[in-house]
Amino acid sequence: MTRKKSTEAIHGRKDSLYRGANYPIYSSTTFAVEKSDDYDKFIGDQEEFYIYSRYSNPTVRNVEEKIAALEKAEDAVLFSSGMAAITTAILAFAKQGDTIVALRRLYGMAYRFLRDVVPNFGIHVHFLDEAELYAAHKEFPGAKLYYFETPINPTTDCVSLEKTVRSARKAGALTIMDNTFASPINQNPIDFGVDIVVHSATKYIGGHSDIMAGAVAGSKELLKSVRESLKAFGGCINPMDAYMLDRSLKTLKVRVEQQNKSAQRIAEYFNRQKKILNVYYPGIPSVRSYKIARKQMMGFGGMLCIELPDLNSAKIFCDSLELGLNATSLGGVETLVSIPVLTSHIKMSPDELKSARVSEGMVRISVGLEDPDDLILDFKNALAKIPA
Ligand SMILES: Cc1ncc(COP(=O)(O)O)c(C=O)c1O
Repeated sequence: MTRKKSTEAIHGRKDSLYRGANYPIYSSTTFAVEKSDDYDKFIGDQEEFYIYSRYSNPTVRNVEEKIAALEKAEDAVLFSSGMAAITTAILAFAKQGDTIVALRRLYGMAYRFLRDVVPNFGIHVHFLDEAELYAAHKEFPGAKLYYFETPINPTTDCVSLEKTVRSARKAGALTIMDNTFASPINQNPIDFGVDIVVHSATKYIGGHSDIMAGAVAGSKELLKSVRESLKAFGGCINPMDAYMLDRSLKTLKVRVEQQNKSAQRIAEYFNRQKKILNVYYPGIPSVRSYKIARKQMMGFGGMLCIELPDLNSAKIFCDSLELGLNATSLGGVETLVSIPVLTSHIKMSPDELKSARVSEGMVRISVGLEDPDDLILDFKNALAKIPA
């Protein structure tokens, strides 16, 4: 029987020297060989033969194995940030003359990397909406990569994994998907045929707003190329941060399950409030993504978005909160709110905002682990400050 996620997240490698409950932090940047001929072993097994910590490190490897298990992947590689993971994974596979099709609505920095940096390598990038992505094999047969994320920031709209993978396979393309918003507890894209999953582990996996980290998960074969690129680009995680991630992983499932429950309650509360024009949360049956989310997510997540009449109302709401911090990022134990037009979608033209389905009155909420009763009271008091 394969072990369940909470068990995998707790029981990784053993401390065989002292039987400590925690796997040790190997802070060494370099590891000595016993004999010069041992270097030959490095050619065969780069992950398990430790020689230099940019290539691999035992503390890091312990966490990589856990993330692979949680994502139902053969292997995983850790990075110093989500962007290090995303950029390295994309450039591990796309080469000069290749075509990438990408969802138009992406995490802002991933979008800017694909729009402004990737074309400098002679790689063609086309941004598409969901419907165009599902049919992209017709317009872009032979594309090298499909890059997308679901749920999408900030509206939590869901993209069909089934339809995207089907189209990518017809095109002969690899799929890379950002699973940060859902976390491996709520969604396993590899079950639906996605080839490579990327994470900003800074978010739910880290979970305490104190670690920058990223991860890539997929087949052993594909991850060989990713590790080779990591060695060259150098975005490795340091062992201290990997240890912190190991500690965080042990509570990932209970954290995310509570965040799912609290977000559902809060979304339902917001849905009853007259001052709120729209509530976006995949767990609300009237929301357009509900059907897709039911099919591909095990939980609806801790992220939601509300739409107030205008930017001023959004500012009053955010500035009136006592518990919710007005801060960018997500996935931590503390509730965070942010106004997309002032943060992730700043400086976008009205047309760009329209195609991102983002309005000035939107507030994105990352529901933390405070008691949901206290959060609802905080939200109620803040809503009361908005003039009727
Ligand atoms: C969905 C998503 N992907 C990737 C990233 C980038 O991760 P990092 O900030 O760890 O580089 C973020 C950061 O906000 C994100 O929200």
